[in-house]
Amino acid sequence: MAIQFHEKSKEFHLFNDKISYIIKVLENGQLGHVYYGKHLTDREEFGYLIEYARRDMAPYPMEGRSNFSLEHLKQEYPTYGSGDTRYPAFELEQADGSRVVNFTYKGHRIFPGKKELEGLPAVYVEKENEADTLEVVLEDEMIRTKIILSYTIFRKFPVITRHARFECDLEEGVTLLNCMSGSLDLPDKEYEMVELAGAWNRERYPHTRELGYGIQGVYSMRGCSSHQFNPFLMLRRKQADESSGEVLGFSLVYSGDFLAQVEVDNFDVTRVVMGIHPNEFRWELGKGEEFQTPEMVMVYSDKGMNAMSQVFHELYRTRLARGTWREKERPILINNWEATYFDFNEEKILQIAEKAKQIGVELFVLDDGWFGKRDGDNCSLGDWYPNLKKLPGGIKGLAEKIEALGMKFGLWFEPEMTNKDSDLFRSHPDWLLADIRRTYCHSRNQYVLDFSKEEVVDYIYRQMRKVLGEAPVSYVKWDMNRAFSEVFSNGRGKNWQGKVRHQYILGVYSLYERLIREFPDILFESCASGGARFDPGMLYYAPQAWTSDNTDAVERVKIQYGTSYVYPISSMGSHVSASPNHQVFRNTSLEMRGNVAYFGTFGYELDISKLPEEELEMMKEQIRFMKQHRKMIQQGVFYRLKSPFEGNNSAWQVISSDKREALMAYFRTLQPAQGKFERIYLKGLEETAQYEVRECFGARMDLGVHYGDELMYAGLSVSDCAAGVDGIAREQQGDFFSRLFYVKKVEDR
Ligand code: DGJ
Repeated sequence: MAIQFHEKSKEFHLFNDKISYIIKVLENGQLGHVYYGKHLTDREEFGYLIEYARRDMAPYPMEGRSNFSLEHLKQEYPTYGSGDTRYPAFELEQADGSRVVNFTYKGHRIFPGKKELEGLPAVYVEKENEADTLEVVLEDEMIRTKIILSYTIFRKFPVITRHARFECDLEEGVTLLNCMSGSLDLPDKEYEMVELAGAWNRERYPHTRELGYGIQGVYSMRGCSSHQFNPFLMLRRKQADESSGEVLGFSLVYSGDFLAQVEVDNFDVTRVVMGIHPNEFRWELGKGEEFQTPEMVMVYSDKGMNAMSQVFHELYRTRLARGTWREKERPILINNWEATYFDFNEEKILQIAEKAKQIGVELFVLDDGWFGKRDGDNCSLGDWYPNLKKLPGGIKGLAEKIEALGMKFGLWFEPEMTNKDSDLFRSHPDWLLADIRRTYCHSRNQYVLDFSKEEVVDYIYRQMRKVLGEAPVSYVKWDMNRAFSEVFSNGRGKNWQGKVRHQYILGVYSLYERLIREFPDILFESCASGGARFDPGMLYYAPQAWTSDNTDAVERVKIQYGTSYVYPISSMGSHVSASPNHQVFRNTSLEMRGNVAYFGTFGYELDISKLPEEELEMMKEQIRFMKQHRKMIQQGVFYRLKSPFEGNNSAWQVISSDKREALMAYFRTLQPAQGKFERIYLKGLEETAQYEVRECFGARMDLGVHYGDELMYAGLSVSDCAAGVDGIAREQQGDFFSRLFYVKKVEDR
């Protein structure tokens, strides 16, 4: 069992061969935090690590003691009104207005495995021996309320997952004003904080800052995890880099408003809290009721950032994503959005589909515009029945024709939204998540539906179910194209309003769950105006997500690089689109567009019925290539080799878990004048094994056979392309240049 309770010292030690996490019941019955980091040999007592030394002016809760102040002690789930004036893990209001509480240790339970979180996405185990769980029960007897803190440690991963559950048994109830999923006090502040920040079309750029006194963090109050920030934080030692040093990763399995915050106090203690954003949150708990926080996932690495990412990748790919598609190679798709936007009919769609079939595409996805009378973004969201003017045979007719061509059929929905010009809105104007007595914002002419109401979710469910039940649909793209603004649940009382934002997300999760259960073979891809909901919560329901609306290859290198800090390659929707690109109007070669898109789920998003034969031939080859390598790409181990945020060149690599084959991609943005020679150092190979290196496209150079140690420590020259047109080397022929190398162990030839 990886969790020990030491009776005498009242300490819990959660450990595996990589990490330790130690908690102690303090003298006043509250929980103190002792240690989180690299594995420590188990022993009866680690209490010496707790620093009690007094500091002037600190409040001391125990009579006669002036060296026990929660102001300075490192705690497990710090509370408001206890002498600790730092940001608390939770705040709870009682009927008389008091927020002072005293939750003390009442008992615990240790068991193998991990429980599910009802109604919420969470990391899971398939066998009990994969993980062990500790539940610590804290109680405030005066208000008959319990907090159950739950910790799961995985045996194979350096991972701890946490959440808190509140249970109330008090007649008059209590009100939760804030309840983080977890809190962690660290003994110093010698870290840099890394977050993923961005905007529409440039999601998840890594951003680093030195920790300073006070509060720093990222958040969303937009109703979705957002383009702007991601529910993720990293603390890394200042010397740490991609391949060395201590790194702590924190990720929240949640898709709504979140807070991920780091506070440094004036004695350099660093407190990390993560959970639902407390803004507008007010949850009344009546007698016999419970509240469950989402799950926080903590990953520890003493081998740098890339190792942290690899743990997140494997954990989220195999123990967060679920269902039929978890292990399967993802279908190569074509999506009509950038090919037609709203302007299509069945004939046009079939023209694209026929060409797509000829080049080897496996799935045709019909995007926005197939329903109601939608010819633009101003109407019909919520009216999920086919537009028979555009598609005379409906979705069923079209899907059957696509299937007859030998491809699967996929369909776009935006279940959480409506337009004023829709049957849904005309019959249910009070279903908007807005104070409809006032003016309220539209965004792209659309409005958010109040998914906190069961009847709204039910209505949408019935419509989607009808479409999906009637036609052979194998894939669903679930979009969400705007953030919240004037949040109000019409017709519901005052008490409901503080619950709405979280209830909304629970409504989204419940709809996903119902559809997944009913249509277990459908592959879901989540999307939110590009990548505004690329979060772990979504991955539990949809194993892949649209990474960004920006499909430009140069921009995508940055977006996919940043996304890889947390999310596996198998989850990143990546398409080859037109040149010039529709977002940044840049021209890039088909080769470069492919070289970026392979590192994801891969597909096309352009009007291939208009392309010249030679481009179609090249696409055929790209598809053959992806089919051959996608298992390794989507299930292998991913390395970031050179950051696009630090210069003109970048590189990444994926290697099969048995180290027998790898793909390395090198990208260069601008062509330098008389550029220097560039080498890329591969990772993860067997030092003494021989590998054959071949360039996949471009000059298709044979780079000979090398030992793994040569490729990793002496490196591979990427700026030495002999072949070229008119005697000019390829690498000197312009901007937006890329090369792709396939590395294969010689004995496998
Ligand atoms: C936003 C998505 O990100 C796009 O891919 C496309 O589906 C549009 N919405 C359709 O409205």
